[in-house]
Amino acid sequence: MLIYLGCCAVLAFALAIGLALQGAAPAAAAHAAFAVGAMPLVFAAMGHFVPVLTRSGGARGMVHRLPLVMQAAGLLALGALGGWLPGWALHGAVSLGVVATVAFLAWVLGKGRKALGRPHPGLSWYVAALGCLILALVVVGVGLVWPPAYRLARLAHLHLNTLGFIGLSAIGTLHVLMPTALARPDPLAATRLTRQLPWMLAGIAGAALAGGLPWLGVPAAALIGGVVMATVAGWWRTHGGARLAGDGVSASLLVATLGLVSLCVAGAAHGLGLMPGRLAVAGFFAGFLLPLVTGALSQLLPVWRHPGPITPARTTLRERLARHGRIRAVLFLIGGLLLLAGQGLGAAPAALGVALFALSLMSGLLARAPGPD
Ligand code: HEM
Ligand code: HEM
Repeated sequence: MLIYLGCCAVLAFALAIGLALQGAAPAAAAHAAFAVGAMPLVFAAMGHFVPVLTRSGGARGMVHRLPLVMQAAGLLALGALGGWLPGWALHGAVSLGVVATVAFLAWVLGKGRKALGRPHPGLSWYVAALGCLILALVVVGVGLVWPPAYRLARLAHLHLNTLGFIGLSAIGTLHVLMPTALARPDPLAATRLTRQLPWMLAGIAGAALAGGLPWLGVPAAALIGGVVMATVAGWWRTHGGARLAGDGVSASLLVATLGLVSLCVAGAAHGLGLMPGRLAVAGFFAGFLLPLVTGALSQLLPVWRHPGPITPARTTLRERLARHGRIRAVLFLIGGLLLLAGQGLGAAPAALGVALFALSLMSGLLARAPGPD
């Protein structure tokens, strides 16, 4: 199922680019990428990492299938926002999403309580990320049934989801994924995660409330941007620039992180009314989400496809997926910055990067495994 969700995310990203180029409602393209593509994949990735962070067994039964429920909620939201399904489908999406996320959060909290020893601090980032998603869905639900609150509810929803749900789960995961990708420990990662969470939460709360209290915008952007910069500085000190840029996976993850810093600058600017906020949605997609997901999948898909001890087949698939990682990262960076600057042309390098990844993915998954594996 993890491989299915990884492939679905790539298809959803291609769909989002197609919808945007065809001139569909911007919210439809955004939800193809974020709600259909990213949201179920974040659940699947958490299902993979929570047992690692708590040194316990994997998800089973209903919990194992919750990413599929989130995919259904995302499809309902996409259908309604694109005008292909009636408006009530949006209420269905909100209800389904809230119930499934509460159930998943209960599982994560239960894993934390039963952990052998103290759980890794990355777990609190997942708990906070899921809390943001629940809040984001409840808030947009309130906006839908109470129109006077709609403007502020929509702003709180989109900032809680992009910076909170996706941002927190990404940074929490990156602290574990980067050392794995480089095959070198990062002894300061856990301390950094513990120290950064309160600042990050304050920043997200500020961005979510800044729609109604505009003076919160700049400090919120500085807090989130500061946390992300501190992460990059920590990696630089631990691993060095040459190593970070030298591998396809780590280069992708680094570019995603730098993309998030640019989005914080753009957030401060659009919060002050210096540029349209809408540009940040395409910038977030191309400059952050695409390098993040393609980088993370290049590291994780080989493990999901060939679980257990390392085999030649796993190493070959990882090499294949990471091979164009640095070129893709540059394409996403250029695309993201162009889109953020309002240049629609930025869609071209982003689409090329997705196509390159889709090709590596297809050839890697369809290739015959070498040796007896
Ligand atoms: C079941 C899940 C979801 C539902 C029902 C939902 C619902 C909505 C609704 C009703 C709007 C307002 C649309 C408009 O005014 O045109 C909206 C906007 C938005 N949502 Fe969601 N959402 C969901 C998940 C997500 C996720 C997971 C993300 C990001 C990670 C997200 C990001 C956004 C963004 C960026 C906007 C603004 C889009 C724009 O106007 O360009 N949403 N959402
Ligand atoms: C880092 C921090 C960020 C801060 C402090 C921030 C702050 C704000 C503020 C204060 C507004 C309201 C402006 C108004 O009253 O019209 C706003 C609007 C908006 N922001 Fe952000 N933002 C941030 C990041 C982001 C990101 C990452 C995205 C991308 C997904 C985004 C997308 C939007 C959108 C789509 C709007 C609404 C534009 C519209 O339809 O009117 N923001 N933001």
